[in-house]
This record gives sequence, structure tokens and C-alpha cells, in this order.
Amino acid sequence: MHTAPDATALDFDRYDRVRPLRWTGQALELLDQRRLPFAVDYLACTDSDAVAAAIRDLIVRGAPAIGIAAAWGVVLAARALPASVTQAAEAASRLEPALQRLDAARPTAVNLRWALARMRRVLATAGADWRAALEREAEAIAREDLAANRRMGALGAALIAPGSGVLTHCNTGSLATAGFGTALGVIRAGVAAGRIARVFATETRPWNQGARLTAWELAQDGIAPTLIADSAGAHLMRSGRVQWLVVGADRICANGDTANKIGTYPLAIAARHHGVKVMVVAPSSTVDMATASGDGIEIEERDPGELLRFRGERVVADGVQAWNPVFDVTPHALIDAIVTERGVLERPDAARMQAFAAG
Ligand code: MRU
Repeated sequence: MHTAPDATALDFDRYDRVRPLRWTGQALELLDQRRLPFAVDYLACTDSDAVAAAIRDLIVRGAPAIGIAAAWGVVLAARALPASVTQAAEAASRLEPALQRLDAARPTAVNLRWALARMRRVLATAGADWRAALEREAEAIAREDLAANRRMGALGAALIAPGSGVLTHCNTGSLATAGFGTALGVIRAGVAAGRIARVFATETRPWNQGARLTAWELAQDGIAPTLIADSAGAHLMRSGRVQWLVVGADRICANGDTANKIGTYPLAIAARHHGVKVMVVAPSSTVDMATASGDGIEIEERDPGELLRFRGERVVADGVQAWNPVFDVTPHALIDAIVTERGVLERPDAARMQAFAAG
């Protein structure tokens, strides 16, 4: 494990401005990520089912952000219970159906289940102030995520030699977290420290998280990424312009296998072939020691229409079918470093992951 450089040195006013979730005290406001980059609109969710629908429909997306949204969804569900529910145990059983609907919103990112487990634990130990305790926990989940991201930014950037180029996939920035981002946090910190000289971002078909979200986010910071088609990754690596592939994760298994946005796996294969290093950046809430390997991860499949249509218009011949898995698993052997807020794990495998979990 490496020790953390000073994460407080970065100018967060410049490098950490976007917020995808805002708790108003009455409602959860979500930056509608379906409409970015040309419309910056917040949608207010006033009940837990609206939060579950927002997670399912990708109004809020990114593993840490959907965990935080779900925690606030539990707070909203709690508000719908009558004042006569004074005992935490009764609240727990009455809230359980809402928690299960939140849990079912998306299957792959473990942060969703992790955040709901934290909310359940609060209910299991709270007294008569269970409503306030749930709210404090949702706040803590968001606060801890932001702190984790800032620390991972410093840790990950320290691995990158000055003057390097990086390639990232999907959106792992402020939009996918409480703020700053995971892989994109490393990229922000690396650019600020003068270590990263070139940033490439994939389009991330079919939902275009890279083209629509990552490019927009980095532009807010004055960082100009170069967009590439997903299929241009290997060619870019071959050109020698990138030294690291820096990506996030939706779930890291007990052996280090990592689920992330579809297309990460072929990029990791190409990276190994070309001597480009692979860094996975994720908070410990993404680590799932209960799943032994990537084979145990449920891979979400979304509407094939995402492939058949472009901006609502069909672009594929009638009658053609499509298959749309939206995550893939990168085997741990292709990963050079996993960066969490607890440190850097090099060449992850089951034994190193076990030591990480124990420490
Ligand atoms: O389908 P999405 O947009 O929720 O997928 C997001 C990703 O795959 C991210 O890389 C991952 O959640 C890490 S976000 C910090």
C-alpha cells in the first residue's frame, strides 16, 4: 500500500463544481443526466418511488451516485410514514417494500445495495429518533463519498508519471458521485499536478456517457479532453499517446475482477497488449467481498432500442434485433492497480483483496 499525498492542496473551487444530487430538506433534486450537455435541469423527487424510477431511467447514474440517491429515497419513504410510527423496528418493517423497490432499480452497481444496507443498519439500532438518524446517515454517505473521491484523486495521480496521456471510459466524475469523481477525480488531480498532459475520453456507446457527460464535465474545469470512438481505443494505445487507462467500477469482486461500463474489458485487453497500464478507481463501497469472482455479477441488460435508434429515430433496418448488455467484467489479471480511499492495491488478486478487506 502507498501512503496518501496531500489531497487538500488541490483547488477544489476550480476542479469540483458539478453536483448531481441536492437535498433540499423536502426533496431530492437530481440533475437530469438524460438531457446533458445542452440542458442543465434538476428534477425534484418527493417520494422514494420517484427516486427508484430516476435510478432506473438514468436521470441519476454512476455507481456511487445511485447509492446516495437510494439513501435519500429511504429518507423520503420514511417521511411518508404516519407520525404514529415511533418505533424504529416498526419503521423498518413498513419501509422494507420501498427499500426493495429501490434495490431493484439497477442490478450491477453494488453501491446501491451497500447504501441500503447502511440505512437498514441504522434502523436496526436507532431509537425514537430514527427519522433523524436516517437523514444523518444519508448525509454521511454523501459526505464520505466526496472525501473518498478527493483522497483517491491524490493517490491515483501519484501513480502517473509527469507528462503522461490517459484514456478514460464512461463517466466517473462529479456526475457519477457526490462530487469530484473516481477515475475522473484522478484525472482532475493529475492534470492539476501537471502529471497528465493529454486526456482522451471514449464516446461510451450506446448511451454516450463519455461524449455527453465526461466531455462536458471536464470542460467546466477548463480541461479539454479529446473524444474518440469506442473502437478507436486500441489504435490510440498503439500510437503511444496514452500511458494509463483510468476507469471506475460498478463492483469489485473478492478476487479483484471488476465490473464497469460495457467496453472496459476490450480496452483493458488492448492496454495489456500495448503496455498501457490499467487503473481502476473506486471507493470501498464498490468492493463486494461476498461475490467471489466476476462470474457472480449480474450484468444489466437495457432496452435494445438504445442501439436501434439515434435521438429517437430508428437507424437500423426494420426487423433487426439487438442485444444491449451495459456492463462487462475485466478480469483482475488485466488490472495494474485498484485505487480506493484506503490505499492502492497493485496487481489485485484474491489474497491481496482479502488483506485489503481485513485491513
Ligand atoms: O450505466 P452507468 O452510467 O450508471 O454506468 C456508470 C459506470 O459504468 C461508471 O464507470 C461506474 O459506475 C463508476 S462511476 C464513479
